[in-house]
Amino acid sequence: MSKNIFGVILAGGNGSRMGNVEKPKQFMELGDKPILIHTIEKFILNNSFECIIVLVPHQWIKHTQDIISKYITIKTDSIFVIEGGSSRNETIMQSIKFIEEKYSLDDDTIIVTHDSVRPFVTHRIIEENISYTKLNDACDTVIPATDTIVESCDGEIISSIPNRSSMYQGQTPQSFKAKKLRKLYLSLTEQEKSILTDACKIMVLKGERVHLVSGEVYNIKITYPYDLTMARAILEEFH
Ligand code: CTP
Repeated sequence: MSKNIFGVILAGGNGSRMGNVEKPKQFMELGDKPILIHTIEKFILNNSFECIIVLVPHQWIKHTQDIISKYITIKTDSIFVIEGGSSRNETIMQSIKFIEEKYSLDDDTIIVTHDSVRPFVTHRIIEENISYTKLNDACDTVIPATDTIVESCDGEIISSIPNRSSMYQGQTPQSFKAKKLRKLYLSLTEQEKSILTDACKIMVLKGERVHLVSGEVYNIKITYPYDLTMARAILEEFH
């Protein structure tokens, strides 16, 4: 019987904020293997997934398949590498299209979408994403904000300072009932699509309930070279 839950690893970006490196950051080495491999390994440990879909830029498909064969020894036949989209949300839509074509898509189909460059996601976080999405239609992984968040609409003067106790920082995974997410995404105008870069925000703006899952401080996203230094320190600490 189909498990109807899919791991979706978003690796379709070019990592421009990482600077001029010869490959997108998800393929850079962290310890003894590429960042992306660390992330895939966390998903492989979970037995709830029908399969794991890894979405990368077209020209990196072969390389991704090669490193998966090199570093991963189990369940490789349930990992599929496909082309991502022009934006993060478009990459998510590509995964839904793949599921629809290769498996089937019904109202209960769940996708657990995760940034390829967050290699420290835990089994607990993934499990909670799955169980909360079964009960609600979506969930977002967050940690309480530690710094006060200051809002400025013009970048010069403060517009507001929200109460910190109700502020959180978004991480991933973000998980969804796939069919509902796609329906809402397709209802957006092109202009809305360009503004709504966060997939959970699509659900929130359309009045859907998105449940919170507790993340971890160390579930960092590798964005800048500094984050890679942090990631190496975290790896030393945990392994
Ligand atoms: N991502 C994706 N498809 C895109 C754009 C981004 O799957 N078209 C993925 C990235 O590969 C990354 C995650 O979304 O794992 C988070 O995005 P971000 O850190 O912004 O990655 P990049 O877009 O690669 O980085 P930058 O914004 O610095 O170019």
